[in-house]
Amino acid sequence: MLGMATPFPIHGGNMSRPILRTAFCNRVGIEYPVILAGMGPVAGTGEPVATGELVAAVSNAGGLGVLGGVAYSPDALRAEIRKIKSLTDKPFGVDLLLSPNFLVPKSRDAIVPTAPKVEQLPASHRDAIARIAASLDIELLSPPDDSEVLGDWIEPGKSWAGSQIEVLIEEGVPVFASGLGTPAAFADELKANGVTILSLVGTVKAARQVAADGADYVVAQGTEAGGHTGRIGTLALLPQVMDAVAPTPVVAAGGVAGGRALAGVLALGAEAAWCGSAFLVSHEANQPDLQKDRILAAAAEDTIVTRLYSGKTMRNVSNPLIEAWEREGLQALPMGAQGVLIRDLQYSIEQAGRHELLMNAAGQTSGMLTARRPAAAILEEMVAEAAEALDTRLKSRIHVAV
Ligand SMILES: Cc1cc2nc3c(=O)[nH]c(=O)nc-3n(C[C@H](O)[C@H](O)[C@H](O)COP(=O)(O)O)c2cc1C
Repeated sequence: MLGMATPFPIHGGNMSRPILRTAFCNRVGIEYPVILAGMGPVAGTGEPVATGELVAAVSNAGGLGVLGGVAYSPDALRAEIRKIKSLTDKPFGVDLLLSPNFLVPKSRDAIVPTAPKVEQLPASHRDAIARIAASLDIELLSPPDDSEVLGDWIEPGKSWAGSQIEVLIEEGVPVFASGLGTPAAFADELKANGVTILSLVGTVKAARQVAADGADYVVAQGTEAGGHTGRIGTLALLPQVMDAVAPTPVVAAGGVAGGRALAGVLALGAEAAWCGSAFLVSHEANQPDLQKDRILAAAAEDTIVTRLYSGKTMRNVSNPLIEAWEREGLQALPMGAQGVLIRDLQYSIEQAGRHELLMNAAGQTSGMLTARRPAAAILEEMVAEAAEALDTRLKSRIHVAV
């Protein structure tokens, strides 16, 4: 019976938790080298996936929870950070995007200066959206104007990301992750306040840049990843990034949703794994069960990289909307403009209750996710399996001598 309770023998003594510790754990003050990816609002609901409950659940289980902070106003971000603090006394982090459009100073007259009006977009693209809507039997509606709501919190002269970083520092958040862009503009201030900086990259060139710009850890994200992703696989990217940025330590991302992959990236030299898809189907993940179930139903080959949603390459569970967009063969517009292009379409899909057409970002590991479970159970199984793979299984299968 004992053996049936958990598929992986527990190490570290009788009934105790397995031991799996790296220098990253010591630096940040956590038990296991597993980081919850700071997943923002790309799950079709317009809300972040990694909110306070999920962050606290992962941190309480011994990993590092990271909030998907990009879309929060400074006040909302502060409230969510305080909620996390009320749910856990363990370390946690916040993920923001630092690409140029999040760094431009705002003014009340031009709230999002880089985003054009829909009338300014190419007719070819607007016509395509109308054709796609008609082919999917969606009546195109326009959402109510939300510029007033945005205008409420924007302090003229401050950038979106800059206002959020101020809150992180004031609230004493121990870890900051930049999902896009470089930490250059904020690195000195963050370090002076004791914040550890993680920066996501998908290429060796970007890895060199963020390491030079002050990242304490470079997160090498392979194409397997859900959400925004690049073209290089984790197995190829990770060692190349490690060589390029040494002695800066590296964290692996993309394709780690179980203990075998966790063991693999630790064996390659990563100090931790940054995991999104694995936790997408957790009870605490903030997305509808319908979307979690689509991920559970998806096979590894059912995800597709598309520029439809943001103008940048993003991996999603495929759906008829993505297929229709790809058939049009158009070049996507830049980030910001592409969002404006599809705004009415996404709003109309939601209004029509056609949830099967909503954005559903997820990675290639979708094919190995089998059940909705508590985040703690996902993390504990991953850690136990990795400890087992690195310890007894490895020694029994491979004979090594140097
Ligand atoms: C639904 C979803 C939302 C995401 N949102 C963000 C985000 O806001 N910021 C970010 O840095 N990465 C985001 N990502 C990417 C993750 O940070 C992470 O790199 C990726 O999930 C790792 O690969 P995996 O999905 O194979 O675990 C998102 C991923 C998913 C699946």
